[in-house]
Amino acid sequence: MTLLLTLPILLLLIHTLVYVPLTSPLSSLPGPFYTKLTSLIRKYHELRATRTRYIHALHLRYGPVVRVAPNEHAKRKRILADRYANSNVMRQPALNGIVERAERVVKRCVESLGGSLDLYHKGLHSYAYDCATHHLFHPYGADSLRNKQDEEIMREVTFDDSLQNRQLSYYSPTLHKAISKILYIWGVKPRETPLADKFVLDTAAKTDAAPFTLLNRLQSVLNNNRNDDESEKIAKIDQLDIAAEVLDHMVAGIDTTGDALCFLMWELSQPRSLQYQTKLREELLSFPADLSFDKLPYLDAVVMEGLRCFPAIPMSLPRIVPRGGKTIDGYFLPKGTTVSCQAHSVHRIDMEAWGPDPDTFRPERWLEEEKKGGDKEGRKKRLFFAFANGGRGCVGKHLALTEMKILLRQVYSRFTTRPNETMREEDMEMADQLISSRPAGLKCLLKFEPIGGQEEEVVV
Ligand code: HEM
Ligand SMILES: *[C@@H]1O[C@H](CO)[C@@H](O)[C@H](O)[C@H]1NC(C)=O
Repeated sequence: MTLLLTLPILLLLIHTLVYVPLTSPLSSLPGPFYTKLTSLIRKYHELRATRTRYIHALHLRYGPVVRVAPNEHAKRKRILADRYANSNVMRQPALNGIVERAERVVKRCVESLGGSLDLYHKGLHSYAYDCATHHLFHPYGADSLRNKQDEEIMREVTFDDSLQNRQLSYYSPTLHKAISKILYIWGVKPRETPLADKFVLDTAAKTDAAPFTLLNRLQSVLNNNRNDDESEKIAKIDQLDIAAEVLDHMVAGIDTTGDALCFLMWELSQPRSLQYQTKLREELLSFPADLSFDKLPYLDAVVMEGLRCFPAIPMSLPRIVPRGGKTIDGYFLPKGTTVSCQAHSVHRIDMEAWGPDPDTFRPERWLEEEKKGGDKEGRKKRLFFAFANGGRGCVGKHLALTEMKILLRQVYSRFTTRPNETMREEDMEMADQLISSRPAGLKCLLKFEPIGGQEEEVVV
């Protein structure tokens, strides 16, 4: 009797848990056997903040296409892009705000002379926050490099230790609800950002933001809601939608740019990279002062190489295969399958494009001619994935590149940077957060030494 009851249940379990996964089209993909049945191992690495390295190891073993889990789903929101166009970012009022903020970082470097500056805590996230809010809200952009209250808001959004908590609430909302009180006692706190929420709600209500800002754009969509076809394209929005949208952009623009600069300046400060730092400075000091920062080839190569080696979002970005399915690299994937691609691996595994030293920081690779067809930089540029690509790629790309180049220009035309002797290599290992990756030691102490004592005037 019991056997009669348990057998069908057992068969059903075997059917759904083993037979269906093993016979699904995905089971023919290369990958470890256990990924046909479960995504637990991947989730374990997410909790340990080692997801990117785990997936990269699978790529090295199984090739460019690898199965990491039976299947999974994800949703994304839509965006507003026109205020982030390069022509808009390069407008004088937009640029001036960035240069001003870079000069405030330089002031911190000057104040640190004789000692060290923690760029992770005391500079780059503030810089990224101030620049992003400048572009979103000017004249209501933040000044966290000088103003304590603004710094408080930045810290609330960026120095966040709720990774495990957020993963649990994402994968298992019910369980999360049930045990969140216990987690709280252990010190695992939910992510709450009351100061940032208030700042954004107050600022999003302003109706006189500068023409280049995203807020200005959203407010005009709101005003034209009924009588303009522009609004047709962007759907109806209200005041709360505006706040939610700008909050998203604000958060997207802080850790990414801050950590990308942090990893890059750390690398430039290493003895092995001092040659590149010197070359960069030579370019910065030898070009005519009236030449725009975006015309400097070595500065561009340094930033591209920084984002290749240390893409602020190194891990896989999930996309869902649309109706009709899709063949990728010879493997047919049915509709609804989650496919993803991680910059950390795309930036390394194609030796023909990257050369024999993909794990080495070497800006020159961006200046070398491609071997076949004289297609200079073509292949590398196409593979470059730090900002992802297509409809869901980073809208803030031009803003981020501009912020990075202006900061490097203002700093490296004045100083040499070296690591503080107490820093260990492990402190700067990447620790994956849910989206971005940050230095494992949560600090980046650098020593700034003025070059030849002279202060160069730098024009943008
Ligand atoms: C070095 C700096 C940055 C990097 C490496 C970066 C990278 C990325 C990547 C890879 C995505 C795609 C995420 C996905 O597909 O799930 C993304 C999305 C996005 N980024 Fe950035 N980003 C940077 C800076 C910025 C800045 C400065 C802003 C704006 C102030 C910004 C705003 C956004 C927004 C709003 C999205 C969402 C787009 C969408 O949902 O379709 N990012 N970013
Ligand atoms: C290096 O950092 C430590 C810890 O912050 C500090 O005590 C020390 O003075 C720094 N050394 C230099 C040369 O700046």
